[in-house]
Amino acid sequence: MRAAVFESAGQPFLIANDIEIEDPRYGEVKVRVSHCGVCHSDLSIVNGSFPVGTPVILGHEAAGVVEAVGPGVTSLAPGDKVVLTPTPTCGTCYWCVRDEHSLCANTSAIALSSFPDGTTRLSRNGATVYRGLGVAAFAEFVVTQESGAVKVPDDTPLDVVCVIGCAMQTGVGAVLNTANVEAGATVLVAGLGGIGLAVVQGARIAGATRIIASDPLPERRAAALRFGATDVIDPTSDDVVAASHSLTGVGVDYAFEAAGKAALIGPLLDACRAGGSTICVGAPGLDEKIVIDPAVLFSTTGKKLLGCLLGSVNSRREIPRLVELWRRGHLDLEGMITRKVDLAEIDSAFDDLVAGRGIRTVVSI
Ligand SMILES: NC(=O)c1ccc[n+]([C@@H]2O[C@H](COP(=O)([O-])OP(=O)(O)OC[C@H]3O[C@@H](n4cnc5c(N)ncnc54)[C@H](O)[C@@H]3O)[C@@H](O)[C@H]2O)c1
Ligand SMILES: [Zn+2]
Ligand SMILES: [Zn+2]
Repeated sequence: MRAAVFESAGQPFLIANDIEIEDPRYGEVKVRVSHCGVCHSDLSIVNGSFPVGTPVILGHEAAGVVEAVGPGVTSLAPGDKVVLTPTPTCGTCYWCVRDEHSLCANTSAIALSSFPDGTTRLSRNGATVYRGLGVAAFAEFVVTQESGAVKVPDDTPLDVVCVIGCAMQTGVGAVLNTANVEAGATVLVAGLGGIGLAVVQGARIAGATRIIASDPLPERRAAALRFGATDVIDPTSDDVVAASHSLTGVGVDYAFEAAGKAALIGPLLDACRAGGSTICVGAPGLDEKIVIDPAVLFSTTGKKLLGCLLGSVNSRREIPRLVELWRRGHLDLEGMITRKVDLAEIDSAFDDLVAGRGIRTVVSI
C-alpha cells in the first residue's frame, strides 16, 4: 500500500508505494483511510520530543471505510464509514470496568508504536515498519481492533469528522469527562491549537459562562472568540494569572494546559481559585519537569492537578456523541479545518503546524 513514512529527524517523509500490511486477525478490521488530520503529537515524534522506533507511519486523527473484517467481528461490515481512535477498548480489563477506557490495558497502544503484543503488521522489504500513536493512518489502509474503528452514519463526510479522532475527542473529552465542567463554571485554556480550541468548544457546550483563552498567536485568539471564548489573552504581553483573577474575582474553576509546556502548569494552578482544577491536556517533551510548591498549591488551598489521556473517553460512546453534537450545530468541525493537502504534500502539513498556520491541516490519503 501507499503510505508516508517517517525515517529520521530532518528528512522529509518518504512516500512509499510498497508498504506491506497484514490482513486483519481475529477481532480486527481493515479500514481504507479517507482523511487524517495532523496533530502536535505527530510533530513531537518528528522533532524528537517523543522518540519512537523508526521507520514509522504516523497519523492518528482519521476516518475511513471498512474494507474487510477479521473473524469474530460483529459490529462492523465492509462498506461501513468509521472514525478511527487511538484508544480502542477491551471492555473487560481493570480500567475498562471502571469506565477508564482510554487507559485500557489490553488494546491501547498509543505509546507503544505497535500492537500490545509488539507486532505492527506493517513492513517494507521484510523490515518492520512501526505503527505510530496507535493508528498509523498516513497510509492507504489501517488494521486495528474492532473497537478502534467506530461506525458513523452513511451520510457522514469523512473529510470533516476525521478531526474527531484526536482533537475533538481529546479537547471536548477533557472538559466533559476528565474535568466534568459544570454549567456556569469559569474556564481558562492556555494554548489554542486544535486541542485547545476543542477545549474552548467543549467548555461552551458544557455551559461555562466565562471562557478565557490564551495564545501568543493573534489568529488563534481570534479563532477562540469564534468558537465561544469570552476573553482572550496574549501571554507575551498580559499576565495570565492576574487576568484570570481579575476577570473572575476568585480565580478560574478549571484551567486547561493545551500548549504542551510543562512550565505553564505552575502558573495555571495559580490562575485557579482555591479548590479549582488544572487539567494537563498538552504533552510536554520527556525532558521537561513540572515544578510545584506543594504547601501553597495543595495543602492549604485544595487545588487539584489532573492528567488526561485522550479526553478520558470511551470512544464507542464519545465518537457518536460528538458526531451528533456536530449534526445539531453545537460543535463546529468545519471551522477547525483550515487546509487540505494530498499525502504527497505531507511535509507542508507539518510545516503549517510548526509555524502555527491555520488550525488543523487535513491530509487526503
Ligand atoms: N492528552 C492527550 O491525549 C493529547 C492528545 C493530543 C494532543 N496532545 C498534546 O496537546 C498539545 C497541543 O496539541 P495541538 O495539536 O493543539 O498543538 P498546536 O501546536 O497546534 O497548538 C499549540 C498552541 O500552543 C500555543 N502556545 C505556545 N506557548 C504558549 C504559551 N506560553 N501560552 C499559551 N499558548 C502557547 C501555540 O502558539 C499553539 O497555538 C501537544 O502537546 C500535543 O502533543 C495531547
Ligand atoms: Zn493527537
Ligand atoms: Zn480494557
